[in-house]
Amino acid sequence: MSLKIHHLLGLEGVSADDIRLILDTAVSFKEILARKIPKVPTLRGTTVANLFYEPSTRTRFSFELAEKRLSADTINFTTSGSSVAKGESLKDTVWNIEAMKIDIVVIRHSASGAPHYLATCCKSTVINAGDGAHEHPTQGLLDMYTMREKYGKLQGLKVVIVGDIKHSRVARSNIWGLLTMGAKVAVCGPPTLLPVEMEKFGVEVHDDLDEALRGADIVNILRLQKERQKTGLLPSLREYSRYYGITRDRLDLLNDNFTIMHPGPMNRGVEISSEVAEGPYSVILPQVTNGVAVRMAVLYLLSGGKGKVDEE
Ligand code: CP
Repeated sequence: MSLKIHHLLGLEGVSADDIRLILDTAVSFKEILARKIPKVPTLRGTTVANLFYEPSTRTRFSFELAEKRLSADTINFTTSGSSVAKGESLKDTVWNIEAMKIDIVVIRHSASGAPHYLATCCKSTVINAGDGAHEHPTQGLLDMYTMREKYGKLQGLKVVIVGDIKHSRVARSNIWGLLTMGAKVAVCGPPTLLPVEMEKFGVEVHDDLDEALRGADIVNILRLQKERQKTGLLPSLREYSRYYGITRDRLDLLNDNFTIMHPGPMNRGVEISSEVAEGPYSVILPQVTNGVAVRMAVLYLLSGGKGKVDEE
């Protein structure tokens, strides 16, 4: 089987078959990553440009490691120290990098839609590593991988996404992917951080955290984007933490065998207590581990791989 998509711009509109193929292929790559020499020659001769116009720790290192594990050649770009500082446009930057013969562009950008724009004007395969408040599809995929690894399925799981839904690309990719795979999704946050008409996404919407958590299997906690404080969307961090912070006592509302997730970076003591972040039900670091295998699968499949990793 091969992917129907040619770029990974978001999870909205990506079929269940394509998502399943990526997750299944990532299982094979996770096995490879557990070997003594966790490296395969699969993408030898392929060159990947990692263009990070915004800060990143997990996504940037995870993509770079995934590319190296697949034996691809990689070049890395950050805005400081590049000609972006001299005013060069996104299109000119990518056209010039493409002139050096690259195959895949991984891009993180503050502008929603930047990867979609690139896909219309460059020849390379484009992978969205997070665009503005729009989508973060590989985070959505690694989150689903981590859930499926624990529960053996996505169908029927109840996932609650808590926090700044309005500005979160992670929330959108989780919502699109999980609904496609048959999970039930609820979102919860203060009314000022919930998009209008959120119900139209096909999710339950709550501003009462206890109500949202009751009977859930998984809580995916989003980073409170402290920079939003300046725009008056929240009365105070203390109040946010009191009403929406996930602390140990709130976990009693969840189903048995519940799971705590967070895409990182965390604000400990604001949206999540340290006790919860480090509890036995937390898969926050396994999410990061799984991100490498999932990104290997995405790179491999978008390069034409057909999912039988060891035979190619
Ligand atoms: N989860 C995530 O996107 O983290 P980074 O911003 O560190 O890449």
